[in-house]
Amino acid sequence: MNLILLGPPGVGKGTQAKLLIDRFGIPQISTGDMLRAAVKGLTPMGMKAKEFMDAGALVPDSVVIGIVQERLGQDDCARGFILDGFPRTVAQADALSEVLSGLSRSIDAVVSLSVDKDEVLKRLTGRRACHGCGAVYHLEFAPPKASGRCDACGGELYQRDDDKEATILRRLEVYDEQTAPLISYYEAAGLLRAVPGAGSVEGIHEAIVAALKAS
Ligand code: AP5
Repeated sequence: MNLILLGPPGVGKGTQAKLLIDRFGIPQISTGDMLRAAVKGLTPMGMKAKEFMDAGALVPDSVVIGIVQERLGQDDCARGFILDGFPRTVAQADALSEVLSGLSRSIDAVVSLSVDKDEVLKRLTGRRACHGCGAVYHLEFAPPKASGRCDACGGELYQRDDDKEATILRRLEVYDEQTAPLISYYEAAGLLRAVPGAGSVEGIHEAIVAALKAS
């Protein structure tokens, strides 16, 4: 199954992708995670991307399309994949369709998650991630057992640089301007499955699976 998870910052794309990996046995391709790894590794691409990310802006299409194209060609994507945070512009969506057509493949469904802005702000200002293994927590909704420490590996938890309120608001504006048009783009292609992003993590997961089965 070749899936796209679409939705604003903090809607729960990464959280839901983790459950879908276990359910369908296909990998998550998160452009945000790949870019953060490049930033952490101090690669030239990472250094360039960091300026855009810290400002809440999108990294240029050419950079992101290149990393996704390379990733989709890897063996573990042969049975399917979950794109999380890509595409984010119409140009990226067009490029994805071309890359997949070159591989004789196509997107099966686009799950569009939505929650209101106040909920996004709560989710993102309270989000913490592990420096060691990348596990994601929330101070109120999914707290770690020991404050500031990862349950899985004991690593130190940190707040993402772009999870400060001013940057979150900018990311939401960028979403509305550049990414939200993809909802009608994929609706017109008959691929959109709209799923409410509010409620329990497990309940949303089951709603996604039901929407996929119905398609
Ligand atoms: P990226 O990392 O993709 O960020 P994003 O799309 O803004 O999404 P987030 O990771 O912030 O949120 P999420 O929806 O995954 O939510 P999560 O599951 O963590 O991108 C970062 C930056 O990289 C971009 O701004 C851009 O600069 C660049 N970039 C990336 N891709 C790009 C592209 N294609 N083109 C150009 N630039 C690109 O959940 C959030 C919190 O809520 C967590 O704490 C979680 O525990 C909690 N939570 C989740 N579900 C629930 C629930 N049901 N109830 C309560 N709490 C919940």
